[in-house]
Order: sequence, then structure tokens, then C-alpha cells
Amino acid sequence: MKARKNLKHTLIASSLALLTCLPFAALAQDANPNDAMPMDSTPRLDPAAPNPAPPHPELAGVLQNDFGGKEGLASIVETFMANMMTDPRTEPFFANVDRQRVKRELTEQFCVILGGDCVYSGRDMRTTHAGLKIDRNNFNALVENLQRAMDTHKVPFRSQNKLLAVLAPMHREAVTQ
Ligand code: HEM
Repeated sequence: MKARKNLKHTLIASSLALLTCLPFAALAQDANPNDAMPMDSTPRLDPAAPNPAPPHPELAGVLQNDFGGKEGLASIVETFMANMMTDPRTEPFFANVDRQRVKRELTEQFCVILGGDCVYSGRDMRTTHAGLKIDRNNFNALVENLQRAMDTHKVPFRSQNKLLAVLAPMHREAVTQ
């Protein structure tokens, strides 16, 4: 009887310990969701910022077959930037920056995300967009311009969504107001 009571107490104590730990585990995840990500070796200016180019080796086939490999991807980014420069919701942000460099960094970033054999040499997304005063409307415009570029280059809808799904959470670092 005493043994059963002891067992009951041990079970209650363990459940409480687990419940107390859970919120901390959740907080730790919120702080940097990429901490647990494998191959997370991209350096960041802001060490607390999430990985700007999380590798997805399982998407390598998508890069080759549906984005035309690295070269095809570079053409898509070219069209993407051209779309941004004719859209009043995005053009002012890119008018006075080194667009060649931004296109190169975007190509590297997308290439790594799509499992390509590339290295992302740009900054983390928080540092890059700090002070730009980007709002949700600007962000939606950028996504639309990327979708239009992928449509132009005949990237299948399913594969477009694979890239967009990895980029979408980055609104947390890009959108600041
Ligand atoms: C998922 C969302 C976004 C991603 C993945 C992204 C990605 C990038 C990358 C890779 C760079 C180059 C990094 C570097 O220079 O080291 C960059 C730069 C830049 N992005 Fe974004 N971006 C996003 C959203 C936006 C939005 C919504 C805007 C404004 C409409 C924007 C405006 C800019 C500007 C102006 C620069 C150049 C900053 C500079 O040269 O100082 N970005 N972005």
C-alpha cells in the first residue's frame, strides 16, 4: 500500500516537473527556432537572428528540375528585381541600393534554401532590413513579385510553394512596422 502511494507521488512530481519545464522549452524555441536546425553554420551579424539561408538538401531535385539549376534561378531573380522596380510598393526600397549585390545575395540565399551547392555570403535578415521601415503591404508586394517571376519562368505551382514556405517566416525579421 505504502509502495503504491510512493509511486503515485513520484508520478505526480514528475508530471509537475514536466509541466514547469514546457513553457521554458517553448520560450527557448521562440528565441531562435533555428538553433536545433542541422547544418546551421551560416554566420550572422546578429547571433540571435534566425538562419537567413537554412539548407534544405531534400529540395535539390526541385532546384534542378523546376528552377533550372543555379543559372535558371539567377534569371528568375533578375525578373524578380525587374518586377520590384516597376511596383510602387517596392521600388522606393531598391532605388538607391546596389541591386547587383542584392540580386547576387538573393540568388545565393534561394540556392541554399533549394538544396543547391551554394554558399550564402550575405547578412542575416534582421540586420539587413533593420531601419528600412518595411510594412506588411510591402512584404506582400515582394511575395507577389517573386510569384510573378516564378510564373514567368514556368516554375510549377507546387515548387513555388516550397520556396515560399521557407521564406514566409522571415517576415518576422523583414517587417518592422
Ligand atoms: C522573405 C522576405 C525577404 C527576404 C528573404 C529578403 C532577402 C534579402 C537579402 C538576401 C538581401 C541581401 C542581404 C545583404 O545585403 O547582405 C536583402 C536586401 C534588401 N532587402 Fe530584402 N528580403 C525580404 C523582404 C524584403 C522586403 C519586403 C523589402 C521591401 C519591400 C526588402 C528590401 C530590401 C532592401 C532595400 C535590401 C537592400 C538593403 C541594403 O543594401 O542595405 N526585403 N533582402
